Amino acid sequence: MTREMKRILVTGACGQIGSELTLALRERYGHENVVASDIRTPPCAILQDSGSFEFLDVTRREALEAIVRKYRIDTIYHLAAILSATGEKNPHLAWGVNINGLYNVLEVAREHDIARVFVPSSIAVFGPETPRDPAPQETVLRPTTMYGLTKVTGELLGAYYVRRFGLDVRGVRYPGIISAETPPGGGTTDYAVEIFYEAIQHKRYTCFVREDTVLPMMYMPDCIRAAIMLMEADFSRLRHHTDFNVAGLSFSAGELAAEIKKHIPDFVCEYAPDFRQQIADSWPRTVDDRAAREEWGWAPQYDLPTMVADMLEQLRRKLQA
Ligand code: NAD
Ligand code: SER
Repeated sequence: MTREMKRILVTGACGQIGSELTLALRERYGHENVVASDIRTPPCAILQDSGSFEFLDVTRREALEAIVRKYRIDTIYHLAAILSATGEKNPHLAWGVNINGLYNVLEVAREHDIARVFVPSSIAVFGPETPRDPAPQETVLRPTTMYGLTKVTGELLGAYYVRRFGLDVRGVRYPGIISAETPPGGGTTDYAVEIFYEAIQHKRYTCFVREDTVLPMMYMPDCIRAAIMLMEADFSRLRHHTDFNVAGLSFSAGELAAEIKKHIPDFVCEYAPDFRQQIADSWPRTVDDRAAREEWGWAPQYDLPTMVADMLEQLRRKLQA
């Protein structure tokens, strides 16, 4: 651990990414040095049992400040957010959590000399006018969802704090994350996780996007590596800060179903697109992540066959348990 990163706070720690990233951070930096927080009660047992846990609503600035003081926090992984599909159902909530919550985190970080803040952005910053194959690092950012809009604002706000206040804020534009531990929290890419549960449990899945829908995705081990690699990168090498494109793997819903079928031959996938199809159609198929590769050495480790094989193994173990 660098000398500046000794006491870490994770917001939104019970979510899909937080539940696994928090454990990885505890393994790496010491269980006693990573405080998990969320508004979920009761929180996931594994987080409570492996280190400190605090109830924290990020829209309540004083509560955030009190936890930063109590644990002498110097690093924040800010994961609390409302994702794209839930955000379209409740745009006011998405604005409140994603914008006001982030503003609180940045302000508390500025006032308390926090060394480093990680704020994930998303492929949702792109919109229908962005080139889709691949989406360049520097490009048109005109999203059509409230979630995307908050993510563009978040990137710009973070970059402003870097430039204006010298706060070290870093972030990647995550693709859809695929993982076995915690189900996704209301995004458009959730089908790429749901399909595994349904394939194992019922051998059938009705997918809410078309078979030919291609989106950028990433397997959780790569997602965690990206966060830690970027946070440990030498600041002087970074030309970007809050908006790195990071590629994992891109595939169509049909290609994913076909790969799963290689392991579960009687699996049947049907397609019944709903409102999330329109969101998916506004996002790119692939992203150009050369900036991340050049500035902090990013390279994903999973492709479609290795991801599917590992995901099925992890999920079968979990569901049996
Ligand atoms: P998630 O929905 O699974 O988890 C978010 C967590 O935030 C939940 O546990 C929720 O209880 C918590 N939360 C909601 N409102 C809160 C509040 N007011 N105060 C404190 N906590 C609150 O999301 P995730 O997938 O783990 O995403 C984490 C971050 O990564 C988000 O910024 C998200 O935009 C980003 N991201 C995720 C994906 C993905 O596919 N999972 C892709 C791109 C970007
Ligand atoms: N997986 C996320 C979503 O679909 C992308 O940020 O909302």
